Amino acid sequence: MPYAAGMLVLGIETSCDETAASVVEWTAGALKVRSNVVASQEALHAPYGGVVPELASRAHLDCIVPTLERALEHAGVGWKDLDRVGVAHCPGLIGSLLVGVSAAKGLAWSLGKPVVPVDHVVAHLAACLLDRPMPAWPALGLVASGGHTSVFRLDGPTEPQLIGWTIDDAIGEAFDKAAAMLGLGYPGGPNIEREAAGGDPQAVRLPSAYLRREGVQFSFSGLKTALLYAARGVPGTPRRPSPQAPPLTPERVRDLAASFQQAAVASIIEGLDAALLHAGERPRSLLVGGGVSANHALRAALEAWSASHGIECRVPIMAHCIDNAAMIAGLAALMPAPSGIGDLGFVAEPMSRIARGARGPQRKAS
Ligand code: KG4
Ligand code: ZN
Repeated sequence: MPYAAGMLVLGIETSCDETAASVVEWTAGALKVRSNVVASQEALHAPYGGVVPELASRAHLDCIVPTLERALEHAGVGWKDLDRVGVAHCPGLIGSLLVGVSAAKGLAWSLGKPVVPVDHVVAHLAACLLDRPMPAWPALGLVASGGHTSVFRLDGPTEPQLIGWTIDDAIGEAFDKAAAMLGLGYPGGPNIEREAAGGDPQAVRLPSAYLRREGVQFSFSGLKTALLYAARGVPGTPRRPSPQAPPLTPERVRDLAASFQQAAVASIIEGLDAALLHAGERPRSLLVGGGVSANHALRAALEAWSASHGIECRVPIMAHCIDNAAMIAGLAALMPAPSGIGDLGFVAEPMSRIARGARGPQRKAS
């Protein structure tokens, strides 16, 4: 039966180590996920303890066409049924982004359908809009991912205004480095969470740094160093040799993981307290996205924080927390329609246009 209903958008996501494609239908004011296919490269990068950019882009090249075909097949639609193509064009690994961007432009050109480039960081927040009614605006948006810890004020899904960022590491990056310090391997976040479940978060006092100088700022590098010292001992001097750290037994690893996770979550909550002061009109919803939003301790803390402020808390379903293309298709569906097939002159960019990497907005040269 030929497809005829709402607008069908194909989303393409290749910014890091996941090749993803999804078909989302925008119908009756809601975003319905028709398919969501992710080809993960986790096993490919695991032996290296992190993502190897060259390997990632080559794997995207191998996976992109079958992933696109599977997304259409799962959605039960053909190429000609598509109304729009959305693609993550920033931020990410440039070689990886180029694969998705080139595929999207080629498809738009050959199908004669518009292509809409979207920002991956903003798309993480669109994950909260999939398969549910739209939230009440204005909203606060929190992206907690491997590359970003960003807070936005949103008057609508496509109009984010950056109001908070990390001055050093992103929270996911800190989880990954903490896991490496504790010998838990890659991917770090889920491994820390698993160990933390059996540990005592009060066992080791670790700092939750939050800086109030310029509005809403986060910092995770001090927490990372505190964990390193707790795990391996404080570096000594020739006059004052370092005291021995307790041995890194499985129990100590679990306690350190739990203490680290608790401190990281506390930093986020403190940042959100400050964001309320900087958000202007009182937000009515909290939209959360990014890989770290899969963390149950963070989810529980965000739910409790939102409830205490009378704000609706929206966290994505697990499949939409990590990088996926449904969030790309969802955001692309809500963007204004370009004329014709759109401007094919857009390029892949390593930095976010809106979140400006880990360190907030670019300052004007003085
Ligand atoms: O959003 P994402 O998939 O990629 C980026 O856009 O960066 O986020 C990946 C990050 C990684 O740092 C990973 O360790 C973290 O999300 N992560 C978690 C959990 N699952 C993934 N961090 C803490 N707890 C988790 N359960
Ligand atoms: Zn992401």
